[in-house]
Amino acid sequence: MPHQPSSRAPIGVFDSGVGGLTVVRALRDLLPNERLIYFGDTARVPYGTKSEPTIRKYAAEDAALLMRYEPKLIVVACNTVSALALDVVEDTAKGVGVLGVIKAGASSALKKSAEKRIGVIGTQATIASYAYQRELHRLNDDVQVFAKACPLFVPLAEEGFATHEATRLIAKEYLAELLDSRIDALILGCTHYPILKPTIQDVVGKKVALIDSAEAIAQEVKAHLSERGLLGDASPEPPRVLVSDVPQRFRAIAERFLGFELGEIELVEI
Ligand code: DGL
Repeated sequence: MPHQPSSRAPIGVFDSGVGGLTVVRALRDLLPNERLIYFGDTARVPYGTKSEPTIRKYAAEDAALLMRYEPKLIVVACNTVSALALDVVEDTAKGVGVLGVIKAGASSALKKSAEKRIGVIGTQATIASYAYQRELHRLNDDVQVFAKACPLFVPLAEEGFATHEATRLIAKEYLAELLDSRIDALILGCTHYPILKPTIQDVVGKKVALIDSAEAIAQEVKAHLSERGLLGDASPEPPRVLVSDVPQRFRAIAERFLGFELGEIELVEI
């Protein structure tokens, strides 16, 4: 018999590190009455440069960790895990709902692209998995997709170089071929990239719509919970934050990602 979650149960969110806090922020903004538990696998980040078997192993362990808190829904904030290991998370979640960011990002991009010429940027693993490309083509036969891995964006975001000249130079280099392909929408297919939004928008110009999967997934979470009568009514509280390692500057980086202060950061064994 599948487990019937309670509306009072928390929403579990995980990512490879700090980046998924952009999803927590979007969830908090849209659903302030939900209890949120975030796990950032800071001991093993980055995932985006690792092999598929390793990413799948980590995904199973991350989901098992969140299951200890009996969530009503698991949100896979990591694009890399969503692309390569969503089935592993579903198997581990044993009937609890699981939402990844790929579908939300792809359908949001199709709504915003008039020309159906869509760019996707993400980690090497996400782009090589072809997950966004496949999902966009599944949703629309005529769409043209142009993909590019942007691995240097992750450390630039972690370093707080949102509007730094170095970020601008690297963005110009990475995005030139997408601009040559005349895209009119660009999916930020990595949780870190929304941090660099101002610079990326400047480089691609105002005519290219940036698709932030954090906002798109928050809308999907709301629809999922409301369809199942699982919307929470808790008083607003800070998200509970769990990490597998506490890097020295974690709090500063996390608060920059979130835009609000965090409570205690709990260290957990993975
Ligand atoms: N959070 C990851 C993602 O969204 C990016 C960082 C990493 O490589 O682990 O794909």
